[in-house]
Amino acid sequence: LAKVEVELGNIPEGKNVIIKWRGKPVFIRHRTQAEVEEARTSEWKAFRDPQSDEERTKKPEWLVMLGVCTHLGCVPIGEAGDYGGWFCPCHGSHYDISGRIRKGPAPLNLEVPAYEFNELEGKLVI
Ligand code: FES
Repeated sequence: LAKVEVELGNIPEGKNVIIKWRGKPVFIRHRTQAEVEEARTSEWKAFRDPQSDEERTKKPEWLVMLGVCTHLGCVPIGEAGDYGGWFCPCHGSHYDISGRIRKGPAPLNLEVPAYEFNELEGKLVI
C-alpha cells in the first residue's frame, strides 16, 4: 500500500498539520516542550483508555494519529476542547494533547497509525 511522506521541517513547533492517508485524515502535531510535559505527567492510568504518552509517540515532540473520532467517526477540531488537544463537535468528545479521550462519549483514544522517521531526510513516513 502507498506510503505518504511528510516534510517535518515545514511544521513549526506548536502547529498542527492534517494530511490524507488511505482516505483518512491524519493529524500531525509538533508539540511544544510544555505540551510534552503535560502529556507525560498526566495521571493516565485513571483515563478511560489508559495509555502513557510514551506508548503513543516515537519522539516526544511529534504526535501522529488518525483524525477520526472513536465514537462515530467525525473529524475532531484541533486546539480545542477542555484538555488542550482536540474536540469532536458531533457529540462532544474531548481529547488531550496526546489524543487520549478525556471526556464525552468516545470509548477510545485517537488511533496511532504505524509510522517511522526518515532521519536523513527529515521526513515522517506513514
Ligand atoms: Fe465524535 Fe460522536 S463522533 S463525539
